[in-house]
Amino acid sequence: MLKFPIYLDNNATTAVDPEVLQEMLPYFSTHYGNSASRTHSFGWYAEEAVKRAREQVAQLINAEPAEIVFTSGATESVNLAMKGVFEVYGAAGKHIITCSTEHKAVLDTGRHLEKLGADVTYLPVNKDGTIDLNVLESAIRPDTVLISIMLANNETGVLQPAKRIGAIAKARDILFFTDATQAVGKIPVDVQQDQIDLLCLSAHKIYGPKGVGALYVRRKNPRVKLAAQIDGGGHENGMRSGTLNIPGIVGLGKACAIASQQMHDETRRIGSLRDQLEKELTTMHNITINGNIEHRLPNVSNLAFSGISGNTLLTEINRTIAVSSGSACTSAKPEPSHVLRSMGLPDGIAKNSIRFGLGRFTSWEEMEYTINTVKTINQKLTDSPT
Ligand SMILES: Cc1ncc(COP(=O)(O)O)c(C=O)c1O
Repeated sequence: MLKFPIYLDNNATTAVDPEVLQEMLPYFSTHYGNSASRTHSFGWYAEEAVKRAREQVAQLINAEPAEIVFTSGATESVNLAMKGVFEVYGAAGKHIITCSTEHKAVLDTGRHLEKLGADVTYLPVNKDGTIDLNVLESAIRPDTVLISIMLANNETGVLQPAKRIGAIAKARDILFFTDATQAVGKIPVDVQQDQIDLLCLSAHKIYGPKGVGALYVRRKNPRVKLAAQIDGGGHENGMRSGTLNIPGIVGLGKACAIASQQMHDETRRIGSLRDQLEKELTTMHNITINGNIEHRLPNVSNLAFSGISGNTLLTEINRTIAVSSGSACTSAKPEPSHVLRSMGLPDGIAKNSIRFGLGRFTSWEEMEYTINTVKTINQKLTDSPT
């Protein structure tokens, strides 16, 4: 039996996995200690839970537990990484390289740093959403201290060549930070293999709770130094003060442990549902896929519907299926997505693009319904364009 509305916005956020919720619940009521309380069992119990979660997060990305800093989510992690690096390394060099299709968390932090004297280069992307490594290399200057390039894009799922970026950064002694919020738990991520120095992730994108995330900070080759952005009791090795969100951290840890176990099979299952959706929908003459088809997350499909009204299309689909457009509605007037625009898509197409984000709980029946419904709506709108 189908349950409506069908949720296909898993890149915006995911439902908490029931196993994650079960793991978290005791930490609200029974085990409510503060992990910084050193003198009694409530504190020890909480500390033990945090230790376990740190190991679970570290394992998923092949890091050491001591390299994990818990935060309130990816946005905070991005801020800590970029501002924290600039504060420490800014005296050695003021140049930062990032990319035009990054999440606003990175772009806006870059803008903030510009006000503090940083010189930020926003690399363009190819038509398929990937960066050109030659352009990256030629953007590097003697005073470049940080390269911040995301692993997977949140709108298109397009993957950047992290391993090659890591090698380029390493060869020049530049720190490499990657926003892996969308990639972690969906594809294998390995900070050693890819020579990543800083990496952010968020629980609510991987079936964990909202308001908790982490920043990986390399401790060896090189040992990355960060200036704290939240001062206080010196928690998290002095990098992020504030009483730890124990239930949230337990949830993040469990979400990572489940991802470690299930990622392989889940990726195959979700990928084949996504491929079926695209195969069926692209038989219609006006529907095309945005972004690199090969180097992409398995759960995302960003589709352009040309020749029809994007707003009407979204409204019609949203009656029974929760999807979002590629555009970020930051005001009353919806602007075309900065990601699709950067890829060179005309505004008309960028405005008419929809992101289908599949997830752990997406069923074949839901996909079948989505295919039929979207086909019918598209046909209706192409027959009578508004
Ligand atoms: C690529 C990317 N970076 C950062 C964020 C921000 O994550 P959070 O909601 O945990 O602050 C998101 C979430 O939308 C994202 O998709």
